This record gives sequence, structure tokens and C-alpha cells, in this order.
Amino acid sequence: MIAIRRAVAGEWRDARAIRLRALADAPGAFATTLAREEAVPDDGWVERVTTAAWFLAWHGDRVVGVAVGIGDPDEVDARHLVGMWVEPAHRGDGTAGRLVDAVVGWARDDGAAALALWVVDGNDRARRFYDRLGFHPTGQRGPLPSDPTVLESRMRRTLTPDGS
Ligand SMILES: CC(C)(COP(=O)(O)OP(=O)(O)OC[C@H]1O[C@@H](n2cnc3c(N)ncnc32)[C@H](O)[C@@H]1OP(=O)(O)O)[C@@H](O)C(=O)NCCC(=O)NCCS
Repeated sequence: MIAIRRAVAGEWRDARAIRLRALADAPGAFATTLAREEAVPDDGWVERVTTAAWFLAWHGDRVVGVAVGIGDPDEVDARHLVGMWVEPAHRGDGTAGRLVDAVVGWARDDGAAALALWVVDGNDRARRFYDRLGFHPTGQRGPLPSDPTVLESRMRRTLTPDGS
């Protein structure tokens, strides 16, 4: 059974480990690189885990997925979903959707009116996944910071206080 929990400061090693696994598995899906993340010092990870909302999916004592909520750089009233990754063995089993639900709940509790994200053009699985969860393309596109030859698109889901 999978349990989704927000990481606490003492779980920074778990957060780092799954983030590095994600970047090794899907280097083209993220705005940063494995080398850059490997260079972050331990206290940088503690700070990350305590300043952003890191949700980890636990299967027993193993972390099998991650999603992170942060402030949205474009919209004051929105929050932003980053770092979304589920290990291949748990794709298609609902773990990823539950991680997004956790970030949506966090954003809503924080008073946000929307949750936004960027997805790389051509990442059709992720794109379809976000479509299904009610995210819509905003029409904004831009270069992926870690590889400016690739474009990414912004998607956004409006949040309502009643949970719809
Ligand atoms: C993105 C990710 C979190 C989604 O989780 P998931 O468990 O794979 O998602 P789901 O299986 O629930 O949904 C994927 C959808 O894409 C479909 N799909 C599967 N492979 C596909 C492909 N190659 N092309 C298009 N659609 C595809 C699935 O059928 C499903 O659609 P459906 O629900 O209508 O049947 C996961 O695939 C992942 O970790 N990918 C690598 C990292 C990544 O890309 N992160 C996103 C960064 S923005």
C-alpha cells in the first residue's frame, strides 16, 4: 500500500535520494540537471524540505514517488507543482495522481486560487496525465532552463475552496 506524506526536516535524505533518482531516470523532464542537484550541500536540502512542500510516496520504508509544491513565479495567487516523478514500477497505479492530490490540498489550504506547472513539449505521458487531472494549457511556452533547445508549456488548474 502506498502512503503519501509531506516530508519533515529529518527526511531530507529521502527527498534528496528520490530527486536524484528522478533526474537520473528522466533528465529531459526537469528544469535542472543531476550534476547541479548532486552539488547541493546537505544544509541546502534541509532548507528545501522545510521551505517547500515536499510530498513523498512511501511503499513500506521505500520512497517511490515525489511531488513538490512551491510559490508560483508568475501568479501571486497561485502555487506551482515541480519535481513530479514516480518510479517506473509505480506508473499507472494511481500513485502519481495521489501525489498531485496532496499538492492540490496543500495549495488550497494555503489559500491558492490555482496550481500551475511547466511540462516539456513531447512528454506526452505527463501531458496526458495532467490533462486528466484538470490542468489546461495556458498558451505560455518557453525554453527549458536545463536545455534551451527544448520548449516547455505552462498548464494551470483552477482551485476552488469547496474542493471541486
Ligand atoms: C509523469 C508521471 C508522474 C505520470 O504518472 P503515471 O503514473 O505515469 O501517470 P498515469 O499512468 O496515471 O497517466 C498517464 C496517462 O498517459 C497515458 N500514456 C502512457 N504512455 C503514454 C505515451 N507514451 N504517450 C501518451 N500517453 C501515454 C496513459 O494511458 C495515461 O492516460 P489515461 O489515464 O488516459 O489512460 C510519470 O509518468 C513519471 O514519473 N514520468 C517521468 C517524470 C516526468 O515526466 N515528470 C513530469 C515532469 S513535468
